[in-house]
Amino acid sequence: TKGNFPHFMLKEIHEQGTAVKETLMSISTDPRVKEVLELLEGRVVVVAAGTSLHAGMVFSYALGKLLGKDVILLDSSEAYHLEKLLKDTVIAISQSGETYDTLKAVRIAKRNGAKVIGVVNVLGSTLDREADISLYTRAGPEIGVAATKTFLSQVTLLLYLVSRMSGVELKDPHLLVESSIRKSIGYARSLAERLKEKQSMFVLGTGASLPIAYEGALKIKEISYVHAEGYPAGEAKHGPIALAEEGFPVLIAWTPEDEEKLQVAKEEFASRGSEVYWVGPRGDIVAPESDWLHLPFTITPPFQLLAYYMAVLKGYDPDKPRNLAKSVTVH
Ligand code: F6R
Repeated sequence: TKGNFPHFMLKEIHEQGTAVKETLMSISTDPRVKEVLELLEGRVVVVAAGTSLHAGMVFSYALGKLLGKDVILLDSSEAYHLEKLLKDTVIAISQSGETYDTLKAVRIAKRNGAKVIGVVNVLGSTLDREADISLYTRAGPEIGVAATKTFLSQVTLLLYLVSRMSGVELKDPHLLVESSIRKSIGYARSLAERLKEKQSMFVLGTGASLPIAYEGALKIKEISYVHAEGYPAGEAKHGPIALAEEGFPVLIAWTPEDEEKLQVAKEEFASRGSEVYWVGPRGDIVAPESDWLHLPFTITPPFQLLAYYMAVLKGYDPDKPRNLAKSVTVH
């Protein structure tokens, strides 16, 4: 049930602290992790779709940055074109464990002799059964079609593996998530009022904030039906800046890694009349301070809340967006 919440999505956004905490507790005592860490020493390919792909981006960014390890990240709907890449260790990330494209990539990988690690939320799902080793996110059932608590649970699990590989500690992610929701919810609601009338917008990020910019844009598109495009802040000047004009909205996902780069992007758009809004510690939507590694926990909730309120204020049901199903089992 929805309890005191008007929608499952809002409830599930608020369950993220618990989901993250349970996932971290479970993965940090999971005996399968030992074998997984051994497999991760070799060549690693990640396949996933949609929001799960964004969790894969967080993983590959952290491994590249901390360990100089290059993970191949494939959008599962495209992976079969490159079937020769699907070998060695393949991590398939899927909330439902039923996504057709992801399963297709897994089956190719197995034919190629790969070891498949499934990161899955639904126990007993097809991916759970077909993977050689399953690791479980402990988000509990997610009813809203838009993935929220399962995303941060995937991020938690994957960053836990990164922490074991790098020795860099993951510090109380659930507290960051809870403080992020508390801090940002009022701001997210007010900004949703302004943005709900817009046709189109960019969500810019860089480094650790880029996967969150993509994820934020996906949430906005899928439930509020406003076109939102995630883009690297520096890359935006190579074409997309042509869209900058009076009133065109640009959201910027903050990261501590290179604020100056984000500032430059802001100026490029603002000087052409664009409305620029920051999501971060001193932002138009306020999120807690954090280092780059913990950034998903602090800046994801504000984007989820923004998308949620945009949908609700426009009169749409955020739990059942048109044209979308909870598991995409079709080709
Ligand atoms: C977005 C969303 C979808 C799914 C995608 C993959 O909110 O829900 O983009 O993330 O269809 O689904 P799973 O993780 O079940 O493979």
